[in-house]
Amino acid sequence: MEAEGAVYLALMTAPSKPRMESYSRHVLVCTGSFCSPTARGRELYALLAELLQREDLLFGPGRVKRGETPCLGVCSDGPIVVVYPDGVWYCRVTPELLERIVVEHLKGGRPIDEAAFHRLKR
Ligand code: FES
Repeated sequence: MEAEGAVYLALMTAPSKPRMESYSRHVLVCTGSFCSPTARGRELYALLAELLQREDLLFGPGRVKRGETPCLGVCSDGPIVVVYPDGVWYCRVTPELLERIVVEHLKGGRPIDEAAFHRLKR
């Protein structure tokens, strides 16, 4: 009985964990200035929000999360954009390429091979 009481007490005092809807992919955009001296990643990051909304990728099972990071460790030929869990890395991303990434890769499930420079090995 004493052990049950200890378990109960532990459950009641354990800190709650945050809850989050599941998502299908996570896109990270480098907004640093080493890979893109004019920091074009910042404009891509803003554009990504618009494109995800336009393509209905903000809610539901195909939901995509976006994040910005100051560096992805490449530091040239940016802006760099990476899509997980696919592990597909894109370089020299323009607004036009970002639109293709959203439509073809994130929505259509087909990575753009000719624009990818690295793939995560599993
Ligand atoms: S600054 Fe963009 S990858 Fe390092």
